[in-house]
Amino acid sequence: MKQVAILGSTGSIGVNTLDVIASDPDRFGVYAITANRNIDLLVQQIQIHKPKVVGLADKSYFADYQNKIKACAYQPEVLCGSDGLASIASSPTVDIVMAAIVGAAGLAPTLAAARAGKRILLANKEALVVAGDLFMKTIQAGSAELLPIDSEHNAIYQCLPDANQTSSARGNYHQLGVDELVLTASGGPFRNWPIADLKEVTPEQACAHPNWVMGRKISVDSATMMNKGLEVIEAHHLFGMSADKIQVVIHPQSIVHSMVRYSDGSVIAQMGNPDMRIPIAYGLAWPNRMPSGVKALDLQSMAQLDFSAVDAKRFPCLNLAYQAIANGGTSSVALNAANEIAVDAFLNHQISFSDIYHVNLDVLNNYIAQAMQSIEQLQEEDLIVRQSATQILRKYYR
Ligand SMILES: NC(=O)c1ccc[n+]([C@@H]2O[C@H](COP(=O)([O-])OP(=O)(O)OC[C@H]3O[C@@H](n4cnc5c(N)ncnc54)[C@H](OP(=O)(O)O)[C@@H]3O)[C@@H](O)[C@H]2O)c1
Repeated sequence: MKQVAILGSTGSIGVNTLDVIASDPDRFGVYAITANRNIDLLVQQIQIHKPKVVGLADKSYFADYQNKIKACAYQPEVLCGSDGLASIASSPTVDIVMAAIVGAAGLAPTLAAARAGKRILLANKEALVVAGDLFMKTIQAGSAELLPIDSEHNAIYQCLPDANQTSSARGNYHQLGVDELVLTASGGPFRNWPIADLKEVTPEQACAHPNWVMGRKISVDSATMMNKGLEVIEAHHLFGMSADKIQVVIHPQSIVHSMVRYSDGSVIAQMGNPDMRIPIAYGLAWPNRMPSGVKALDLQSMAQLDFSAVDAKRFPCLNLAYQAIANGGTSSVALNAANEIAVDAFLNHQISFSDIYHVNLDVLNNYIAQAMQSIEQLQEEDLIVRQSATQILRKYYR
């Protein structure tokens, strides 16, 4: 039986992962789950899945946790803070780590899993966005297995020939006939809104994605298409493809999850209903397959599949990602940190939806990129940018 640790079990990906695992209890065990502040759901999950260990990222919620768990029949060991999460991710008992913490906070425990040579199911795109090649080198040095869970990267992974999915092919895909990676984007809830109205968008409207049910941060990122930008950076590092070989197309139905274009004219696509349990099941069972609980794609009832170019005026955040890749070094750290601060401010009604882009642009334009040297340096840069983004943000307060 494979033992799984789920970092971020109280989030959307975490809940879906528990669902897939519970469907095959002879094959997968829940060794550990972790949360940040959602103690009610954590306690509920503990009673259902009975993990041996629980991680609580925000130590200040420990008293609340103790209060709520004391009446429960089952009480696992608890580890707190980022050290606690790192020791869960690297525990010798764990075979598979689902990295499903949102934001740059997911980097440290995911790196711990990489150093310990685990199979990592990577949902936390920020780890690759922030640490890029350093993250990939840590995976290699630790002999860890990296399986992308972001549906687009999972699709691309599935569309590359089996032999090419190994890390040795990374960066050499053009020699294997791969011309281009094509990421699909639904266009989110505002694909057809008048651009002038985007200033007045509310957090509730931005979080109401037409096809996917996701956490609030990634939902806002999908609405601005910063999410697709982060995915371009993620694909650039994950597959070692240059940015000019990564194209984004709008595909409103979210049925084709991404594609690989080959030099002979073939385009191979992965399709499925928009449900994260498909890539999660793929990562858990790889190189085999397992049922995900997702209903079969009904090809006959699909009216049409549309594809169109991205309107850069409507979705200016996408180009910031290409700009960050071109600037190189620690630029992606800056863009990611700025965006986390800006999205948080938008969700707290402090800035408008359109100003997320302006904050990100100001931070990126004022940022002097450094060569990436170490994870500690990236973490310091991340903190510095957060401080300057918080200053810049004030200019846009409503
Ligand atoms: N949802 C999707 O469909 C989807 C698709 C592709 C990729 N992703 C990526 O997967 C990751 C998770 O997304 P999500 O939608 O599942 O997010 P979510 O619903 O917001 O859940 C985030 C999880 O991270 C935990 N967390 C938040 N801040 C933390 C911190 N500082 N330290 C440790 N844990 C923290 C949360 O704990 P509490 O709830 O206890 O506060 C929760 O368990 C993101 O990187 C996202 O981009 C998601």
